[in-house]
Amino acid sequence: MTQLILWAAIGYLMGSIPFGMIIAKVMGLGNLRDIGSGNIGATNVLRTGNKAAAALTLIFDAGKGAAAVLLARAMAGEDAVQVAALAAFLGHCFPVWLGFKGGKGVATFLGLWLALDWGVGIACCITWLVAAAIWRISSLGALAAASLSTTWVMVLSDGSTFILGIVLTLLVYWRHAANISRIKAGTEPRIGSKT
Ligand code: G3P
Repeated sequence: MTQLILWAAIGYLMGSIPFGMIIAKVMGLGNLRDIGSGNIGATNVLRTGNKAAAALTLIFDAGKGAAAVLLARAMAGEDAVQVAALAAFLGHCFPVWLGFKGGKGVATFLGLWLALDWGVGIACCITWLVAAAIWRISSLGALAAASLSTTWVMVLSDGSTFILGIVLTLLVYWRHAANISRIKAGTEPRIGSKT
């Protein structure tokens, strides 16, 4: 039990690093809260017009999810791995450093799946890419990837991460509540739009 609490704390702290905010600040792009959706993720960093900053945010936000999983796997058992994965996701969404007002967790979701099970992770990334290519809406890519993630778990893995997959999917949907409302209203911005 102590082990699981420890990995929950480590995963949370790793996930809570707000790379988008840091990268935007370091690269002189301003405060992400004042830009586009106000979100701290790569999609909103892209709205600054700086593609390199958006790519870096994507890599670092995915990397922290993957790193939490890989570290737990190297130093503890598989139970700790799943706890660290969920905690990293929650850390991104509710970082103590930003008053618990964080991001939507999509890059971290993709990164942690790549490390948990690379087949599932790649399938989720491809799902995101295909959906985003069809609709040109980042949040729809995220919702599609989350929706199909448990299917990919059942098809491509031993199913041991199924419950975690359900929990993560529900969390991604919850964090995208405002996006879902905008999608329904037809007002969700397309990828590349500055608003
Ligand atoms: O990765 C987050 C994305 O799905 C939506 O971001 O800024 O359009 O709310 P945003």
